Amino acid sequence: MTLQNQKQQNPISLHPTIFVILGITGDLASRKLLPSLLELFAKKLLPANFAIVGFSRRTFTREEFRELIREHLNVRPGQFREEDIKHFMDHMTYVQGIFNDPNAYFRLQQHLQTIDDRWAQCSNKIFHLSVPPNLYEGILTHLANSKLTLPCDDRTGWTRILIEKPFGNDIHTARSLDKLLGKLFDEKQIFRIDHYLAKEALQNILAFRFANPMFEPIWNRTYIDKIHIKLYERDGVGDRGAFYDSIGALKDVGQNHILAMLSLMAMSDPGSFSADNIRKERARVLSSLRKLSSSKIKQFVVRGQYAGYLSEKGVKPLSNTETYFRIKAEISGARWKGVPFYLESGKCMSESKAEIDVYFKKGKRGLWKSVNSSQDVPNILTFRIQPDECIRIKFNVKTPGHGFDVEPKTLKFKYSDVSSFSDAIPNDYERLIRDAFSGDQTLFASTQEIVASWEYITPIMDNLASLPLKIYEKGTREIE
Ligand code: BG6
Repeated sequence: MTLQNQKQQNPISLHPTIFVILGITGDLASRKLLPSLLELFAKKLLPANFAIVGFSRRTFTREEFRELIREHLNVRPGQFREEDIKHFMDHMTYVQGIFNDPNAYFRLQQHLQTIDDRWAQCSNKIFHLSVPPNLYEGILTHLANSKLTLPCDDRTGWTRILIEKPFGNDIHTARSLDKLLGKLFDEKQIFRIDHYLAKEALQNILAFRFANPMFEPIWNRTYIDKIHIKLYERDGVGDRGAFYDSIGALKDVGQNHILAMLSLMAMSDPGSFSADNIRKERARVLSSLRKLSSSKIKQFVVRGQYAGYLSEKGVKPLSNTETYFRIKAEISGARWKGVPFYLESGKCMSESKAEIDVYFKKGKRGLWKSVNSSQDVPNILTFRIQPDECIRIKFNVKTPGHGFDVEPKTLKFKYSDVSSFSDAIPNDYERLIRDAFSGDQTLFASTQEIVASWEYITPIMDNLASLPLKIYEKGTREIE
């Protein structure tokens, strides 16, 4: 089967909807959620009757709350029309409450009811947990116990939960979080966010692989030598020192974003665009990752820490937490046996970029053997996920002249060269929120993906402390 036909964009539910942000004063709400909701509002992609309800510990007057939101919207001069911003803010209200206080959920429930009464409708409700993961269990239980997540009526009004990574801390805690989610909600209600899945250029990998039949026949161990997946960041941990220090790079981006990229590169043709099929294939490939024994971990895993990390605010003075890792991963099965997938990420690198390089094997037979190929390079196909989204292919051409030398050149498709492409790229959270409104779970991680990725990462984490910690200078390009 081939992946055919365009995926229809699911229409956004025009039914009245309330988006509840638990932890609205936090960093995620201001960096991602509120700006993306405003963007969707300005593009008229939200239902006419919609409300955003903030919930958190702090007490605000109405005016103080508006001021905070205005600040958190992070609007650049000229980015939106002033009246759009004002109308957007008119849709927002606030409920003060402590996360572990059942009465707070009762007040929230009453507040949502007054909105429903005003609309004279039973609305849809989305609950986004913008809080540290240690609060998930309590909040999820209170939401369910207070019946806030029960649809208020059989025919109209669904309820959905949006939950952020990290989903657990290792395979055991991930399983218990999943068990709790499964006990309290239906899988169709649960939207687990790994925002990398919603990056436009990453989604394009599916189109590139399955809408261009010329690549699928060579997408295997016969032709591919290795695949290198990189997520480099120039910045350090900033003001997230304490949180980051408790998890490290492997849990922060390895278990999720890097493996999300790997799953799209290595999965088989899902046969259709259904969320179930795509998520099943992503999960299948993640569960085929070969678990590393402790001796393989010593050979195949490198960890590092940038110089100066120990003086970051919130970091323990003698911390061994890694800010860099590289793993040589392998996937079992006929397609990928023996092809290394290098998974690499670091803070304080020389540049910020997410990129995937596919190295093809060199031609060593026939005419090629007799060509003076001192200059020849392997064909390399690169997907630049961000910034400057592009696809490039490095290939060899004959150097013009009387001899037969070859040299590498590059074919490149750059999104920014085509304005209808670059102007249309939604930011990742905009896309995720839109899909949560329309109920499309394709770009959200399934429980099987979460379990498979933790099963692969947990043994590495358990052995990480036994590996040497390489201290690297800020701005490093490569770590040996
Ligand atoms: C987050 C990590 O999930 O992803 C951060 O917690 C990291 O440490 C970020 O900086 C990278 O995401 P993006 O979209 O900025 O590449």
